Order: sequence, then C-alpha cells, then structure tokens
Amino acid sequence: MGKMADIDELMYSCGFEVLHPGGIEKTDEMARMCGIEKNQKVLDVGAGKGVTACYLAQKYGCEVVGIDASERMVAYAKEMARNKGLLGWVDFIRADACQLPFVDESFDIVLAECTTVLLDREKAFSEFLRVTKSGGAIGDLEMTWQKAPPQELMDRVYEAWDGFTTQTLEEWQKFCEQMGMVGVQVVDFSEAIPDMERDMKSELGLKGKIKLFGKLLFRPDLRRSMNESSKIFKNYTEYIGYGYIVGKKS
Ligand SMILES: C[S@@+](CC[C@H](N)C(=O)[O-])C[C@H]1O[C@@H](n2cnc3c(N)ncnc32)[C@H](O)[C@@H]1O
Repeated sequence: MGKMADIDELMYSCGFEVLHPGGIEKTDEMARMCGIEKNQKVLDVGAGKGVTACYLAQKYGCEVVGIDASERMVAYAKEMARNKGLLGWVDFIRADACQLPFVDESFDIVLAECTTVLLDREKAFSEFLRVTKSGGAIGDLEMTWQKAPPQELMDRVYEAWDGFTTQTLEEWQKFCEQMGMVGVQVVDFSEAIPDMERDMKSELGLKGKIKLFGKLLFRPDLRRSMNESSKIFKNYTEYIGYGYIVGKKS
C-alpha cells in the first residue's frame, strides 16, 4: 500500500474515528437511503478502522462484513469489534475491493466510503454489483467535483493521494447507470464543507493536534503530503465537493 495508508493510520491514531466527509451522520443517512434493516447482510468496502461497520451492526442489528486492503486496518477494526462485543455480528477481512472474496449475490447492501476514488471505478463497481443480491442496494459516499476541474488539479490529487480520481455527482450518477444500476439517486452535501472542517478540528482536539504534530516531526514525507493536501483544499475550494450515490441492482 502507498503513502495514503500511512496517512490514514496517522489520522486514526491521532483521534479521527472515520475518514470520510460528513462523519457517521452521513453514513447513517446513506444507509437509510439504501433501505437498511435488521438482519440484513451488509458489506463495507474499505472499512478502515471499522467504525461504520460496528455502528451499522449496533444500530440496525445487521450482520456486517468489512473488507480492507490494509492488514493494519483490519487488525484495528477487529479489535474495535471485540471491544464493542460485536464479534459474531461484525467481521473484518483483508481483501481487495476489486477482487472481492465472496460468491455472487452475497449481500443485501454494499457500501463504500472514500475508497472507490482510490480504485479502478469500473472494476470496483463490477465487484460491488456482483456480490449484491438482486434488488439489493449499493451506496457510495465520496469526494466529488462540484464542477469540471482543471487538469492541474486532477494531476495534483492523482499524485498526492495515490491515484485518486473522482467526478461530478451527475457523472457519478451516469456512471452507475451505465454499470447497470437502477433508481440511482445522488445527494450533494458540499454546502456542509465549512462546518465539516470546523468539526474535524474539534474532533482532533488539543491532544490530537499535539499528537499529530509530534508524529509529523519524525515523518517529513507525511508532513509534505499533508501540506500538499492542505494547499489543494485551500486553493481549489470551489471545485471540491462531497456527496453520495445510492442505487439498486435490478
Ligand atoms: C480514506 S480511507 C476510508 C476508510 C473508511 N471507509 C472511513 O470512512 O473511515 C480508505 C480506505 O480504503 C482502503 N483501501 C485502499 N485501497 C483498497 C483496496 N484496493 N481494497 C480495499 N480497501 C482499500 C484503505 O486501506 C483505507 O482503509
């Protein structure tokens, strides 16, 4: 895994619970739009620290499997499930989102948050669709473009975030329809960006900020990456958006 895996781990270790915009509140909104219900089988792709999976299992009584390509994330997430007494309801497996180790039609709902943008979209969605039951739902919450970005911005995010690519929500919708999803809806919550930045800073708190500062002192490579990310967010605010896409497998 590349430098993003180190950055994800750094952020989690300094106190971030989830690494997607809108936090668990937007996860919940998207899961409800997917029609989440008790006893359903849910897959969380790129599960990270495992917060989404544990939250959905606890709140809705679902059986949730989280997959992540990072061994360290899977270890974190398993520990979280154990601490929350959720073993048996939640499981985490190391796997590649583009080669899911499940038979066809295994899940009622497949979710991804801030992960598909790091992958080959077509391969990932083919897999999401393959493992979703007919009539089941797929939800993907991602950073988007609010409007067509300049090539320089696309090049910078690709370089800074290990091959990151995204598109406008309208393009996401078209893409999902072309992949064969039906009833595709999109929700734009880009207007929440200023609040999210404030919330993220307060989630980190003074202790988290000191921890982050201390860790970055010994990782000039990550310091450079994080500085580059801050510059991208600052210089291209009007292009950066957030939203989610929900649709069904016919
Ligand atoms: C930005 S983090 C988001 C984590 C989590 N979904 C959240 O919202 O907190 C992206 C996650 O995707 C995982 N990932 C990256 N490439 C992957 C792949 N090919 N297959 C599965 N997981 C992958 C990373 O290890 C990381 O945990």
